[in-house]
Amino acid sequence: MTATVTLNDGTTIPQLGFGTFQVPPEETAATVATALDVGYRHIDTAQGYHNEEGVGQAIAASGLPRDEVYVTSKLTNSMHERDDALRSFDETMAKLGLDRLDLFLIHWPLPTRYDGDFVSTWKVMLELLEAGRVTSVGVSNFQPDHLERIIDETGVAPVVNQIEAHPFFRNEAARAASHEHAIAVEAWGPLAKGEAVKDSEIQAIAADLGREPSQVVLRWHVQRGDIIFPKSMHRERMEQNFQIFDFGLSDEHMARIDALDRGEAGRQGPNPDTFDAV
Ligand SMILES: NC(=O)c1ccc[n+]([C@@H]2O[C@H](COP(=O)([O-])OP(=O)(O)OC[C@H]3O[C@@H](n4cnc5c(N)ncnc54)[C@H](OP(=O)(O)O)[C@@H]3O)[C@@H](O)[C@H]2O)c1
Repeated sequence: MTATVTLNDGTTIPQLGFGTFQVPPEETAATVATALDVGYRHIDTAQGYHNEEGVGQAIAASGLPRDEVYVTSKLTNSMHERDDALRSFDETMAKLGLDRLDLFLIHWPLPTRYDGDFVSTWKVMLELLEAGRVTSVGVSNFQPDHLERIIDETGVAPVVNQIEAHPFFRNEAARAASHEHAIAVEAWGPLAKGEAVKDSEIQAIAADLGREPSQVVLRWHVQRGDIIFPKSMHRERMEQNFQIFDFGLSDEHMARIDALDRGEAGRQGPNPDTFDAV
């Protein structure tokens, strides 16, 4: 049984989902079908992952009612201008085979592209929301000042900010700024791309509890209140990663994992202030 998080627009999202970054397009339908069979009811994809079609095929083949699977996609970096964004959203919906998306995000703010104008892109997201094409809209990789700007200029806060966060990079500044505006945090790379399960402190806590290291890390995220969607190509790992609501970490365990933070040095992905790939 997966917990849910209530977003600032009143909708709910499963706190645990399945991530699809680097799931190869030709393996996506089968991989996501396995994840749905394991019990995942929240799938995170993106235009830039080139696997939305496979996600859509798996959802259709599952026979699950539409409202039982929460689907997120993200606007890719080359599509920030209004016409491109609207066209690419239509393509996303055709690929997913859906007539309504649960959540659409701006993938990266790209403050050094498009004259630094991610506010206009946020307005296009609000247009899609207004038109009823998407239930909720949010952002990804937004730094505190990026959040301030879109909220100041439109009066509308995103429902989520999807940011890199894991034991080696807690990303507290972006988390705190999100929480200040009642924006839920989605922690991407929750296992630090698999590195966190190799950490000796995580392994020691897992041994104490008789759990898998991955479960300890994912449980830490859940107890912090963040939304997560670990990715795995393996059913056994998908099952491990799904079994995190039947145990708890003590305050002492939480503090020991918090202490693994390396600050900026622990960041694995690009810095959103300078990332400019389109
Ligand atoms: N918004 C963004 O900019 C952004 C960026 C990155 C990711 N994301 C999203 O966040 C999701 C999760 O992040 P991620 O995929 O980068 O990294 P992740 O979930 O932290 O780690 C995935 C890696 O961990 C391994 N793994 C998974 N479960 C494991 C287990 N139980 N034991 C040992 N190893 C395990 C996987 O290997 P196998 O696959 O071989 O099992 C894979 O190499 C993505 O899939 C994507 O949806 C968003």
